Amino acid sequence: MARRKYIAGNWKMHKTVGEAVALAKELVESLAGCPHKLMIAPPFTALSAVASVVKGTPILLGAQNMASVEQGAHTGEVSVLMLKDIGVRSVILGHSERRIIYGEKDGLINEKVKLALKHGLEVVLCVGETLEEREKGKAEEVVTTQVTQCLQGVGEGDLPMITIAYEPVWAIGTGKNATPQDADAIHKVIRKVLDTLYRPGTGETVTIQYGGSVKPENARELLTMPNIDGALVGGASLKKETFVPIAWFDR
Ligand code: PGA
Repeated sequence: MARRKYIAGNWKMHKTVGEAVALAKELVESLAGCPHKLMIAPPFTALSAVASVVKGTPILLGAQNMASVEQGAHTGEVSVLMLKDIGVRSVILGHSERRIIYGEKDGLINEKVKLALKHGLEVVLCVGETLEEREKGKAEEVVTTQVTQCLQGVGEGDLPMITIAYEPVWAIGTGKNATPQDADAIHKVIRKVLDTLYRPGTGETVTIQYGGSVKPENARELLTMPNIDGALVGGASLKKETFVPIAWFDR
């Protein structure tokens, strides 16, 4: 039942190819022997170059988004087939920046989740409430709806390919992390939702990361909570000096 800790870096819209390759090389070196599951998600333009750096290492290559269809007249989009072709193994879907800035809804995210699974990509599915929703006491309801809708039609057999990332929107890039207790409570809610969507006990088997202002100073207390299985790290993933201590939080 022990779930493996999973630390992922979401580089967002940062780093040229040269910068991305340099950071990836530093991470490969510094994280050799790290016992946890590791993933980095550089921007699309750097994926191919970073793929060569992480190939054969324990660091998985992730993308930050993908289109909801395989190919066609979709100017500006990137296909799952293109991602697979260059060695991408995982894809972050439903990030709050995609939801809020680009208007992605649960239905679209659900299409993307199913397409990624169809092609054998792992998924990091992001969910989380806004500050307004939290203040209205709706955090649990919002997260329940997002998990339920984004996983619609996803079979239990595919769940090992899915990581859920609980990222309260008010904690992302703001320096305000959720308290370990608050985050753990929502992770527990997500496990209960999974128990109702699938068989009882399923929730215990799924990896659930926390994301939102994770840094070296708070990583250990967050990552040692019973329901928090890892971290999806934004700002602090952009430098070796901050990402490596998070990935080695228990060293
Ligand atoms: P942050 O971002 O660590 O910079 O808060 C987390 C995320 O958006 O995944």
